Amino acid sequence: MTKPRPLVAGNWKMNGARASWKEAESLAGLLAADPEVRADVMLCPPTTLIAEFAQGLKGSELLVGGQDCHGESSGAHTGDISAGMLADAGATAVIVGHSERRADHGETSEDVRIKAAAAHKSELLAIICVGETETERKQGEALNVVGTQLSGSLPEKAQAGNTVIAYEPVWAIGTGLTPTLDDVGEMHRHIRSELKGKLGEAEAAGIRILYGGSVKPVNAAELMAVTDVNGALVGGASLKAEDFWGIVSVYAEK
Ligand code: 13P
Repeated sequence: MTKPRPLVAGNWKMNGARASWKEAESLAGLLAADPEVRADVMLCPPTTLIAEFAQGLKGSELLVGGQDCHGESSGAHTGDISAGMLADAGATAVIVGHSERRADHGETSEDVRIKAAAAHKSELLAIICVGETETERKQGEALNVVGTQLSGSLPEKAQAGNTVIAYEPVWAIGTGLTPTLDDVGEMHRHIRSELKGKLGEAEAAGIRILYGGSVKPVNAAELMAVTDVNGALVGGASLKAEDFWGIVSVYAEK
């Protein structure tokens, strides 16, 4: 079975302004200069920057995604953005169910499933996030918690072409901490096996499972080498082109 093409996505969260275009431009330049990168590369900037980035990156290899979408396509939802609006702005993907959305906005796996289905309806790649808290890991519940989140968040029409799973242990986000490589491997194997049960062997084998949580240029190579890790979802280290490139270039042909 051929492995899926990795994806390295940068989640800028609530960071960045129009002046940050220079980072996107510089990243696109690095990517264009190195045709040997065997991975899809994406930036998910704040919504205010999506249209401008997508326009500026036309013809480049660098993809643009959103960080969240509403489950409905339009209507009376002040402040929200639909998947169709993201697609219209030039995004080709959207992150759903990030732990910060689950914590700050009380999003449940059911909400996340509806958002992912909305993304699919607008032909966006849904990057579905799952991950346990520190307490859940200490209690030995990590596999169970993530399994439950996954089955609750996965929409009916999920397949390799429209869905990516990002495993992001909550306690590893922005802390500089990462699980052991064995723990990462165990969780990614577990996610793959759950996907097999739901979608069948062939589809599950093609779904990219990203690791996220304190991925940096110094630890990216070892994390990305773990079996069933098919790329990274990167926060802080994606804000500067040079740092992000240090992670992306793990997939460059040496
Ligand atoms: P950090 O890479 O800053 O730990 O953030 C990870 C993350 O939450 C990406 O979605």
